[in-house]
Amino acid sequence: MNNYQGFNKIELSASDPIDLFCNWFEEAKLKEINDPDAMALATVDRNNAPNIRMVLVKKIDHGLVFFTNKDSQKGSEIALNKNAALCFHWKSIRKQVRFRGPVSMIKAEESDEYFHTRPRGSRIGAIVSKQSSTLKSQQQFADEYKSFEESMQGKEIIRPDYWVGYRLEPVEVEFWLNSEFRLHQRMRFSKINKNWEREFLYP
Ligand SMILES: Cc1cc2nc3c(=O)[nH]c(=O)nc-3n(C[C@H](O)[C@H](O)[C@H](O)COP(=O)(O)O)c2cc1C
Repeated sequence: MNNYQGFNKIELSASDPIDLFCNWFEEAKLKEINDPDAMALATVDRNNAPNIRMVLVKKIDHGLVFFTNKDSQKGSEIALNKNAALCFHWKSIRKQVRFRGPVSMIKAEESDEYFHTRPRGSRIGAIVSKQSSTLKSQQQFADEYKSFEESMQGKEIIRPDYWVGYRLEPVEVEFWLNSEFRLHQRMRFSKINKNWEREFLYP
């Protein structure tokens, strides 16, 4: 049973949401048992029906970068509508951070750089998986993996053009902090004319 109280005060002096996010993320990396880098990514399909799934944040700069298959469902949805949202919930520290903003594909060289840090097996998996397409059986994927692996023995595994990085550049970031008696604290930053403006919200 986790007895973390987390009745901290939200950082009232924070003026940059990415900096504040990085501070919270460092705390999460110390205290969250599994996948502190996991975030829910919401997109919409062609009928504006929402869709959500987890992805891992791999880089944080002026946005949040994740990697996936551009032909997957999420990739197709982003191609139709670049507006997306991300949500982190770190249960162990009882904090949530939400991001909204447009998503764009990162440069090919940036994706290459990250792809080459991946273990060989993960690179092969990324190549072989026709992510989000239907699969006859689990065996089919295992066979395809094995046959590709054998065909590539001794050869370099390079990034296929369908395995890419995307960056969500936030225009809105909201921090939520658990507090006693449900007096949870919410602070929202909105980008207005290139500057971050901040306001508080009822929980
Ligand atoms: C903790 C966690 C992390 C994940 N990270 C990624 C990721 O970084 N990239 C990815 O493509 N899928 C990731 N997945 C799988 C996705 O949630 C999803 O099943 C897959 O990308 C297909 O989604 P789509 O059909 O909506 O495109 C992750 C799943 C979990 C549970």
